[in-house]
This record gives sequence, C-alpha cells and structure tokens, in this order.
Amino acid sequence: MDKIRIRGGKPLFGEIVIGGAKNAALPLMAAGLLTDERLVLTNVPRLDDIRNMRQLLANHGIAVDLPGNDGRILSLGGPIGNTEAPYDIVRKMRASFLVLGPLLARMGEARVSLPGGCAIGARPVDLHLKGLEQMGAVIRIEGGYVIATAPGGLRGTTIVMPFPSVGATENLLMAASLAQGQTVLANAAREPEISDLTDCLIAMGARITGRGTDKLTIEGVSSLHGATHPIISDRIETGTYACAAAISGGEVFLRGGRGDHLGALIRSLGEAGVEVSEREGGLAVKRLNGLHGADVMTEPYPGFPTDMQAQFMALMSVASGASMVTEKIFESRFMHVPELNRMGANITVHGESAIVRGVAQLSGAPVMATDLRASVSLIIAGLAARGDTIVNRVYHLDRGFEAVEQKLAACGADIERLPG
Ligand code: UD1
Repeated sequence: MDKIRIRGGKPLFGEIVIGGAKNAALPLMAAGLLTDERLVLTNVPRLDDIRNMRQLLANHGIAVDLPGNDGRILSLGGPIGNTEAPYDIVRKMRASFLVLGPLLARMGEARVSLPGGCAIGARPVDLHLKGLEQMGAVIRIEGGYVIATAPGGLRGTTIVMPFPSVGATENLLMAASLAQGQTVLANAAREPEISDLTDCLIAMGARITGRGTDKLTIEGVSSLHGATHPIISDRIETGTYACAAAISGGEVFLRGGRGDHLGALIRSLGEAGVEVSEREGGLAVKRLNGLHGADVMTEPYPGFPTDMQAQFMALMSVASGASMVTEKIFESRFMHVPELNRMGANITVHGESAIVRGVAQLSGAPVMATDLRASVSLIIAGLAARGDTIVNRVYHLDRGFEAVEQKLAACGADIERLPG
C-alpha cells in the first residue's frame, strides 16, 4: 500500500488549484438516476470515491461516460436496468446510499446494502429511511440490505428532520423531486453541496424553493430532463490547503477557493493569526506572525465543518497557548489524536472535546491514516515537523484528495509518494 513521506520545515509559496467538491459530485451523480436523458457534470474531481460511484451507477445500468479524456466531465443517464446496490460497492463508501431515494422515486423499488464508509462513529441511516417511509415507502431490512418499495409511487408530505443530516436531506430532496404533490423538508441541512444539488435539480426541471435555507419545498413533477451542471469548488480541499499554508508559514493562493462557503473556518483562522483574503479568482492565505490557540466547535453548516476539525487541530498543535476542539457531529472523530501525539503534539481528549496545548516543534514519525480527513491532518502536521513523517495507509487520502503530493510539492514542500 502506498505511503507518503514528508520532510517538514519548508514554507509553502505559490498557487494551488482547487478541484470540484467531492461531496457535491457524489449526490449529483446519484441525481443521474432521476432521468432518462443525459446529465452532464463538469469540474468533476478525479478521486477514488468518484470511481466507486461510477461503478455503482454502471451497475444500475445507466451509461456513465467520460467525454474528452481528462476525466473532468461525466455524462450520465439512460434507462435503469438494475435496482440493487450491492454490498461490495456500497461498503466502500457511505455516499452510495444516496442512490436509494432516486431509485425508489423513479422505479418504485430498490434494494440497497447498508453502508460502510469512514470509521467515524455509528453513522446510522434512520433519518433517510424514516423520511422515505413518511413519503409512502414500505421498507424492511433483510440480510444487510434495505429493501424498499413504493407500489403507488412516493407521495409528498411534511418531514421535520430531528437533525439536519446532509445525506438524508439529499436523498429526500431527490426522491421528492419525482414524488406526487408537495414535500416540505423542515430542519433540512444547508451545506453548500445541498444548494449545488438543488441548482442541478432545478436545471433538470425540478420545482424547489427555499434553496440554501433549512426549509425546502418541493413540488413533485412526473419526470426530469437532462442538464449540464458545473460542480462547485471543494470547500474542504480549500480549507485543508489554507491550514497547510498556515502551518508552514508561507503564502499560498488557492485558485477557485470560495470564501463565502468557509466563513466559520476563516473566522477561526483569523483568530489564530492567519489572514485569508478574497482575491480575483480565489483566496490568498498568509500567516501573519505566530500562531495563537483558538477554540472551535463543529456544527452543521454554517458552523465550523467537522470535515475541517482534524486539519485545524494539526494547526493548533503548534500554536501558542491552548485550544479546545469540540466535535458535535460525529461521536468518535478523534482517531488522529494519538497519531498527532506520536509526532510530539500534546492533546488530551475528554468526551467530545480535545484540549490541544501547543508545542514549539513537532517531530516526524511513522503514522497511520484512519480516515479521509485524519489522513490529510497528518500531512499538515508533517509539513511543520522536524525530520521525516511517513503517513501509512493512504488509500483513505486517495478517496477524497486529488494529487495532494503534487499540489504541495509545486509550492515547495518536500513530499513524495512511496509506492507500496
Ligand atoms: C456528509 C459528508 C461528510 C461530512 C458530513 C457532516 C458527503 C458524501 N459526506 O456525510 O463528509 O462529514 O456530511 O458534515 O457529503 N445521522 C443519523 N441518522 C441518519 C443520518 C445521519 O443519526 O440517518 C447522524 C450521523 O451518524 C452523524 C450525523 O448525523 O453523527 C451527521 O451525519 P450526516 O449529516 O448525515 O453526514 P453524511 O451525509 O453521512
């Protein structure tokens, strides 16, 4: 298995191009199941999770083509030949579960394996299932599969979500687009990726109001048509390279990065002594003087994103003073803590909070990546550590970050991939 070696101590200078958002691309690909016509997505990132989703959609029988050959355009659609999403594909990636709503809405039946994904807590799918049941689906679980039917079609209704789950909002939004009558999704998640999905569904002929708010109202239509949709830039990739620039002490321009999707992180970086400024075409990131400790708490959007928690903690591990990092979204998302501590960080976990006491210097060590965002936090720590850091098990990284080592090396980092 590949490893990544980083020799720390080099400030980053230059430009990094931010790709399309993985977490927008995956639900948008599932939306390809909603129409017989062609859905063309542009600005698609080249990632293992996208390849998994392509495999899943091909398994459902729809065409999944890559016109041109740089892999950044996807053309999806056509008749669905198979409504089963098998365990072997779904277990690799939780977002596969997003095919359930579209399959059920279009075909009246679906058999979808219960998901796996990153090992960050229990991550049930009860909110997806309850919402679909409220819309008239009949659901049972058998042999690790969700077996859902909607013999008379799905019917619109009011669904008040007990928690604004991103995936459940997306699944229900897609299902409601083809349901009979009006669906109201209250306490819906408001992440920018959901607004991107809403925009695409509207371009496909869906009737949705309340975009970007916690109350989405959907008037079901009998069919959706084709469309071409550009995927928004990845706010987590943007934030990750902002933390990398900050820990290295350099100055980096993040081309395509959007400040309007990263308000909470930019405020926390400011408190820590890192300036993020909007420029024509992207964001400029620069550490002003020393780094200072800053407290953060993860929350649903527009709060501080859980997907930036590990990277921000790596940054705080070398800040002056102490910081408290509180994780409110997932119950076991601190697996990076022991690995950062192996590099000389001083972090203790108390329930849902971690106290980070900044140290003057980290030291390179062999470390293990345990999930997608944790793996990139170890790379960030490695950029500031004395000596060599070897990040093992980088397959998590390849699921969600494109060409990390090339992008960082182009800005002066001493980093290379060691094929395993
Ligand atoms: C999405 C993102 C993921 C991000 C997360 C939170 C994608 C592909 N993934 O994941 O990167 O970390 O949002 O911003 O977009 N929950 C339930 N029941 C459910 C659904 C969720 O209890 O039916 C709980 C989960 O266990 C978790 C919390 O709700 O504790 C948040 O999950 P959710 O917002 O659904 O995240 P995902 O859509 O899985």
